[in-house]
Amino acid sequence: MGVDLPPRVVVIGGGTMGSGIAMAFAARGPAVDLVEPSASVREALPSRLHEGLGRMRVPDADAAAARIRLHADLEGVPWDECGFVVESAVEDATVKRALFARLDRLVPPGVPVGTNSSTLPVAEFAGDAATVDRMLGFHFLMPAQFVPVVEVIDGPHTDEAVIARAMAVARAIGKRPVRVRRVLEGFLVNRMQAALMREALALIDAGVASAADVDTAVRFGFGFRYAACGPIVQKEHSGWEISTALYRRVFPTLAADAAPPPSLEAMLAEGRHGMKTGCGFLAWDADRVARERDRYERALRAALDILEAEGDDDPPLPWRSDSA
Ligand SMILES: NC(=O)c1ccc[n+]([C@@H]2O[C@H](COP(=O)([O-])OP(=O)(O)OC[C@H]3O[C@@H](n4cnc5c(N)ncnc54)[C@H](O)[C@@H]3O)[C@@H](O)[C@H]2O)c1
Repeated sequence: MGVDLPPRVVVIGGGTMGSGIAMAFAARGPAVDLVEPSASVREALPSRLHEGLGRMRVPDADAAAARIRLHADLEGVPWDECGFVVESAVEDATVKRALFARLDRLVPPGVPVGTNSSTLPVAEFAGDAATVDRMLGFHFLMPAQFVPVVEVIDGPHTDEAVIARAMAVARAIGKRPVRVRRVLEGFLVNRMQAALMREALALIDAGVASAADVDTAVRFGFGFRYAACGPIVQKEHSGWEISTALYRRVFPTLAADAAPPPSLEAMLAEGRHGMKTGCGFLAWDADRVARERDRYERALRAALDILEAEGDDDPPLPWRSDSA
């Protein structure tokens, strides 16, 4: 195991994200203590983890699955062996506050404790902890076992060495950590995604393009290029003066609404939440959902193969010291 990989990690919450995070660690070697209080979720986890690791094409999925131990409560965890903690319980500040009060006492000194919360900054529920300096945001994207980015988010009191340790651990499990130095709503990834979605939904509402064509424009247009480089490097290719001239015309015309569009609220009021309710912009039945999920994971795995084959930028991209 690499020097940056702790031999045991604790993941709290075995739902959609926690199970993916447990797989992301177990695939790279560490043993995982996965804490999930719901008996029915716990019962379904072994087969879910085993199948998931298989779809990740982990060389020995059986051994990786066997490295994940399930617990009903924090008390059962062998805390003295734990080298890193990721909390990924339900998105509820009261639940997280209670969990972090216990983690404050249970987790050995100096071991980083990250929260995978998408919306709640760590200080909002761990601000009173005696060991708040080892608490931070450690935010994966769904599905956590495939998407490389992890946002490492500073809390107001997080120790610099804890941030460095969290970045190293993320890299050691093959992820691409990005540091978010200040808390803003949506952090970094969801904030940029929300900007895109505001415009996309406005274009659909205005009848400029269909929902299907919005997806095609992103996936086979600028989204396609993002598999090769990020938006900043892409503009280095094309020339900032061209984009700046375009922004002068386009920025003043972009959607700037402070709330989600009424059409989206109406869709939710009709129970159209997407796959989970059988309908969103698309109509789903169980068979189509299963086929789409399978296709999606195979495509993500193939995209990951391309990125992993490419490895780190070699030679490193010539970022100026004030931009990297
Ligand atoms: N779903 C996403 O796309 C996504 C993406 C990134 C981050 N997140 C974040 O990940 C976290 C979990 O989200 P999810 O989508 O996996 O939710 P989920 O509902 O699928 O899973 C949450 C799990 O937490 C368990 N739980 C409840 N109380 C608990 C406790 N006291 N201790 C341990 N576990 C407890 C529940 O039984 C459930 O299995 C949230 O903080 C969310 O903001 C979600």
